[in-house]
Amino acid sequence: MKSPLAVVVLAAGAGTRMKSALPKVLHPVAGKPMLAHVLASVARLKPAKVVGVIAPGAKSVAKAFAPYPAAVQKRALGTGDAVKAALPALRGHSGPVLVVYGDSPLITTASLQRLLESCRKAGASVGVLGFVARDPSPYGRLIVNGGTLEKIVESKDANAGERAIDFVNSGVMCLDGARIAGLLGAIGNDNVKREFYLTDVVGIARARGLHAVAVEGPEAEFQGVNSRAELAAAERAMQQRLRSAAMAAGVTMIDPDTVWLSADTKLGNDVTIGPNVRFGPSVTVASGASILAFCDIEGVRIGKGARIGPFTRIRPGSDVGEDVHIGNFVELKATTIKRGAKANHFAYLGDSEIGAASNIGAGTIFVNYDGYGKYRTLLGDDVFIGSNSSLVAPVRIGKGANVTAGSVITEDVPAGALAFGRARQETKKGRAGPLRAKLQARAAAAKRQKGKK
Ligand code: UD1
Ligand code: CA
Repeated sequence: MKSPLAVVVLAAGAGTRMKSALPKVLHPVAGKPMLAHVLASVARLKPAKVVGVIAPGAKSVAKAFAPYPAAVQKRALGTGDAVKAALPALRGHSGPVLVVYGDSPLITTASLQRLLESCRKAGASVGVLGFVARDPSPYGRLIVNGGTLEKIVESKDANAGERAIDFVNSGVMCLDGARIAGLLGAIGNDNVKREFYLTDVVGIARARGLHAVAVEGPEAEFQGVNSRAELAAAERAMQQRLRSAAMAAGVTMIDPDTVWLSADTKLGNDVTIGPNVRFGPSVTVASGASILAFCDIEGVRIGKGARIGPFTRIRPGSDVGEDVHIGNFVELKATTIKRGAKANHFAYLGDSEIGAASNIGAGTIFVNYDGYGKYRTLLGDDVFIGSNSSLVAPVRIGKGANVTAGSVITEDVPAGALAFGRARQETKKGRAGPLRAKLQARAAAAKRQKGKK
């Protein structure tokens, strides 16, 4: 049987380069806080324990760790000190302890798994995920001899020979839970930064005759975020990953680089996505649906074979049924639109239900707000709303009813009824000519008047 796993997630760093009121680890990547990405990768390892390490007073970060507990690091004295803050919460734990950073949203479960496996197989007390860096300068260098990791030297403390090494520390570390307290206790701060470096545990373990290993992973996973520019870089990398996964699962993207997904976007196979489409949080699209160019959609379930866009905006709380068509400049909010219904041009459909096979004409507005409260518009199946109509909520239109074009509907329309909500047209035969003559004479008189002045 494998021994239980504990994970310590460090999130006590100041993150001052973000210049933000929001704690660094809560900045979103693909619509979800960085920390949530890390916790999702960690959760898939099915750890027995997860402990966060936060700065004093970081209530919102503690909340983001829930249901996991968060230990407080009183002062940011270094990564070694940060892990020490988690020790009380780890008391009694003897399996491996994995240390990860809350500001590295791209880390995958597979890499964490590989580190744990390698440590277990090698009987190592310390294991480190390393990578070959294009630019090793900001990272701790891994000093490896044969199959053994001998020590980690921080950039600022490295000599010229060590600085030439491009195999570096990602920050992800695995420690033997039975020895972690002893190893951390031996860390000093006799270095350039006057910090307690977690990385010192490697040298300490080796001096005690314990084994340590380094496992190589892909650089792309270890991009930490310290600034807005690095946040944008992490976003780009995450989008790249989400797009590739979607395409591998059978989604067609005409121009993938312009499709923006959320971490929780669910796309069925044979979904087609046009250029410049943004998926906000909580979107599910069933097989065979098409999202045409320039749509912005969020908080919606879209059924099989539906066709959305181009230029459609869908806001949260919506549900679009099978084979529904929603066209250009149509905005949906908290609206359920059932199978086969159509709203193809210019409309605002908010707080409503639209029955199957109904047709919403161009320019239709559901008037849902009176300045104080929001009200619902409920349409049965097979309703026809003529173009340029306003339906003033709360209002119901029964099954099979017709609303004529240009209507302002303020009262319920029963099933099968025909409703006019507009002034009746009057047609006066032969009266166009006299009217034109009158208007022409008036214009000529005005011109003469102007000439005299
Ligand atoms: C650290 C590693 C370095 C590695 C690099 C990878 C050490 C000494 N160095 O360097 O070898 O190559 O990460 O990115 O570990 N934190 C706390 N409390 C603290 C200090 C840091 O919680 O007192 C957290 C930060 O929020 C951050 C992480 O630990 O998530 C790393 O800290 P940071 O100061 O960025 O370490 P680096 O100097 O980049
Ligand atoms: Ca860092």
